[in-house]
Amino acid sequence: MEYRRLGKAGLQLSVLSFGSWVTFHKQISDGSADELMGIAYDNGINFFDNAEAYALGESEKMMGRVLKKKSWDRTSYVLSSKAYFGWRGKQNKPNQSGLSRKHLVEACQEALQRLQADYLDLYFCHRPDPDVPIEEVVWTMHNLVQQGKILYWGTSMWSGAEIMEAHRVAHQNGLIGPVVEQTQYNMFERAKIELDYLPVYQNVGLGTTIWSPLAAGFLTGKYNEGIPEGSRLSIQGFDWLKERWLQEDKLKKVKELGKLAGETGVSLAEMAIAWTIKNPHVTTAILGATKKEQLLENLKALDAVSKLTPEVMEKIENILQNKPFLNLA
Ligand SMILES: NC(=O)c1ccc[n+]([C@@H]2O[C@H](COP(=O)([O-])OP(=O)(O)OC[C@H]3O[C@@H](n4cnc5c(N)ncnc54)[C@H](OP(=O)(O)O)[C@@H]3O)[C@@H](O)[C@H]2O)c1
Repeated sequence: MEYRRLGKAGLQLSVLSFGSWVTFHKQISDGSADELMGIAYDNGINFFDNAEAYALGESEKMMGRVLKKKSWDRTSYVLSSKAYFGWRGKQNKPNQSGLSRKHLVEACQEALQRLQADYLDLYFCHRPDPDVPIEEVVWTMHNLVQQGKILYWGTSMWSGAEIMEAHRVAHQNGLIGPVVEQTQYNMFERAKIELDYLPVYQNVGLGTTIWSPLAAGFLTGKYNEGIPEGSRLSIQGFDWLKERWLQEDKLKKVKELGKLAGETGVSLAEMAIAWTIKNPHVTTAILGATKKEQLLENLKALDAVSKLTPEVMEKIENILQNKPFLNLA
C-alpha cells in the first residue's frame, strides 16, 4: 500500500480507502462488513469513511460494531464522519441538518456515539450551506478541534471559491482551516479535481478523498448489457443514479475503455481506479464494495498504476474526450 500526505496536513492516508455509502445496512450485514473491513485493513487501508446520513445513521452504527469487535489499535486507522443532511431523512426538523453550530456540534456527538469512538480523525461539511455564515462554520470546526472531538476538518462538494473563503476566515482569525475536500472524481467527473481546485492546491494546499472512482460501478462494465439483479442501480430509489450513468454516449465509451483495459492486461475496474490515483492531487480514492471479490479486484489497482503508461493515458484521453479546460474566451 502507498500512503499519501493529506495535502499540507501531517496526516497520512492509504491511497485506497474504504467507505460505506449504500452498502452498509442497505446491502450488506455485519458479517460482510466485518469481512470487507478486515480485508481492507489487512491490505494496508487505514481510512474508513462514513457520514451521519448513510442509511440514516445505521451505517455508522454498523461500522462502530465492526470496529469494536476488531479491537484494532485506534491509532492505526483514520475514521471520518460528515454532517449536513441529518440522519432523520424526511423527518428532519429545523436545526437537525445543515452546517449551523448547533447541528455540527450535535451531529459530531451523535456520530461518536454511533461509531463508539472518542474522536473523529476527519469531520466533513457534507455540502456547502448558504444559510449559515462561513464564520460560524469555521469557528465551530476550529472549536471542535480544540475540544479534541475531531482532529482535522474538511468539506465535501464545495467549490474552490467556497473553500478559499473558509481559508480567508480562518486566516483572519487565527483559526484552523479545512485541509481536505471530498469530491466525486472518476473518468466521467473531472472538473473539480482537475480544474476548479487548482488555485486551492497552489495557494493553501488541499488533500482530497475522492468518491465514486468507479462511477457507482458503471466503470466496471457491469451495466454494459443491462442492470444486473442486486447491483446498485437495481435498488429502488436510485433512478437518479441510473439517469446519471446509463447514457448511450457514456456506455459506448465504457465499452471502448473495457477493450483498452483488456489490451493493457488489467480489468476495467482496476484501470478506472488506477487512473484516479495516478493524479497526484488525489490523496485517496474511497472504494465501495458489496462483495469480497470486488474489493480484492479493486485493490489490484495499486499494481495497475504502472501499466498506465503515457501511451495508455493518451488512449484513455482519446476515448473520453472530456478533459476539462479553462475557457477564457
Ligand atoms: N462525500 C460524498 O458526497 C460522497 C458521495 C458518495 C460516496 N462517498 C464515499 O465514497 C465511497 C465510495 O463511493 P462509491 O461506493 O460510489 O464508489 P464506487 O467505487 O464508484 O462504487 C462502488 C460500487 O460499485 C460496485 N463495484 C465495486 N467494485 C466492483 C467490481 N470490481 N466489480 C463489479 N462491481 C463493483 C459495487 O456495487 P454493487 O455490487 O451494488 O453493484 C460497489 O458498492 C462511499 O462509500 C462513501 O464513503 C462520498
